[in-house]
Amino acid sequence: MEQTKSNLANIIRERRSVKNGYSEKPVPTELVKELLDDARWAPTHGLREPWRFIYIPSEEKESFVESLVQTFPLEMRENRREYFSKPAAFLIPVMTVDPRQKQWEENFGAISCLLQNFQLLAWERQLGVVWKTDAQIHEPKVRDLLGVEAGEKIVGFIHLGFFDQQPKPKKRTPIQEKFSIYKKQ
Ligand SMILES: Cc1cc2nc3c(=O)[nH]c(=O)nc-3n(C[C@H](O)[C@H](O)[C@H](O)COP(=O)(O)O)c2cc1C
Repeated sequence: MEQTKSNLANIIRERRSVKNGYSEKPVPTELVKELLDDARWAPTHGLREPWRFIYIPSEEKESFVESLVQTFPLEMRENRREYFSKPAAFLIPVMTVDPRQKQWEENFGAISCLLQNFQLLAWERQLGVVWKTDAQIHEPKVRDLLGVEAGEKIVGFIHLGFFDQQPKPKKRTPIQEKFSIYKKQ
């Protein structure tokens, strides 16, 4: 008999990246802060908490997108204006970059854990989220626009918006195909 799944297991399984179909309803800044306030309990080696967040609230979105679009070559601007106008708000996670590989990897791992916490908590509140790693996250003009300093990395653009229709479920590979048990040779 299959055991009943916990709420947490169900939320992990049901969460989907919401990539389109956002409603125009503004995303309350207080909600994003509340979700981050829980998400920040992610594991973080050395308690470095190698993160900070820049929030583009719905009220600022249009003017932000206009400035962002200006960082793209002329021929891409119309396309990018349309693309970035769809989400209702953006959250931009910024990671502390460490020149030592071990610490760099730990920092990226920690902020990734926090972002998955955030995605799960947002799903629970019917706030749509997708973590995007489009090319502009490495663009110096975008870093300048956001005030990202040397020694920091934009980890992604988190597109946010409430949604009416849940995205279709996606497949995952059965774990037995990705699992092996070590045996002494
Ligand atoms: C680090 C990271 C980067 C991602 N970058 C993108 C992206 O640039 N564009 C995109 O459409 N989705 C991006 N995604 C979302 C994945 O496409 C999505 O998680 C995958 O399709 C599985 O769908 P699901 O999240 O609904 O299960 C990214 C996810 C992660 C974890």
